[in-house]
Amino acid sequence: MHLLSINSLRDDQIAAILSRAAAFAADRDAGRGVLAGRSVFNCFYENSTRTAMSFAQAAARLGAQAITLSVEHSSVKKGETLADTARTLGAMGPDALVLRHRQNDAAAEVAALVDCPVINAGDGTNEHPTQALLDALTLQQRFGSLEGLTIAIVGDIRHSRVARSNALLLPRLGATVRVAGPPTLLPEDMTALSIDEAISGADAVMMLRVQRERLDEDLGDAPGEYLRHYGLTAERLALASPQAVVLHPGPMNRGVEIADEVADLADRSLILRQVANGVATRMAVLEMLVSP
Ligand code: CP
Repeated sequence: MHLLSINSLRDDQIAAILSRAAAFAADRDAGRGVLAGRSVFNCFYENSTRTAMSFAQAAARLGAQAITLSVEHSSVKKGETLADTARTLGAMGPDALVLRHRQNDAAAEVAALVDCPVINAGDGTNEHPTQALLDALTLQQRFGSLEGLTIAIVGDIRHSRVARSNALLLPRLGATVRVAGPPTLLPEDMTALSIDEAISGADAVMMLRVQRERLDEDLGDAPGEYLRHYGLTAERLALASPQAVVLHPGPMNRGVEIADEVADLADRSLILRQVANGVATRMAVLEMLVSP
């Protein structure tokens, strides 16, 4: 079994991952050693702090060894293709391979070439399924259930694999998803609202980073302009439900899509809770895919 996309998971598998992840989040000793003797290959062709380190930490807590391919120092730099790298790594017999790559469907390509489970840790602008799962866990912990919640996803939707995976997952758990962003950063296949309409009365506001590395042209905005028009400020958050929480997958562009006063809100900002839940969620995914 691979984890390539949200729609590759059945409802019962999503429920099992969230339930197990909740148990791992509640008890640091849960799952200790269940994957002893196993190895997880971490292959990140794009930069990462949260996903790469939380997969390594998840593997360590389960007793598996996480082995990192340093792409910058690998034969990728000599021109080896993704397919040949996949076949090469697969021949070494890992128990799972975690892949982040700039190419959409890279994880699916690799999954067709190796004998072990492949986990998509972000493929281009396509999907980031473990991020959506950890976001769901974070909301579930806060609200008990996602049934009936309204979640606004705001920002650079067009380039966001996080938005795409969440737009697939959260409605399956009973939530309504609204999307909003600058007109040039909206995809054609999603119906968007204005920022203020999306946030009004929402139970959760998930802000997204402007992915300048994927833009052909710079937005050309002066400092503070993006925040004023499209960012989450305390004033804009006041449009949401009084108990609304703030999420951001990270890394944040502080002062661009999110103001410090909101990012660091005590209790209502769940951004570091998302990071902690990344470990628990990836433990649950590794356990499901790798356990005998
Ligand atoms: N949320 C997320 O994918 O962060 P990283 O790029 O740091 O892994």
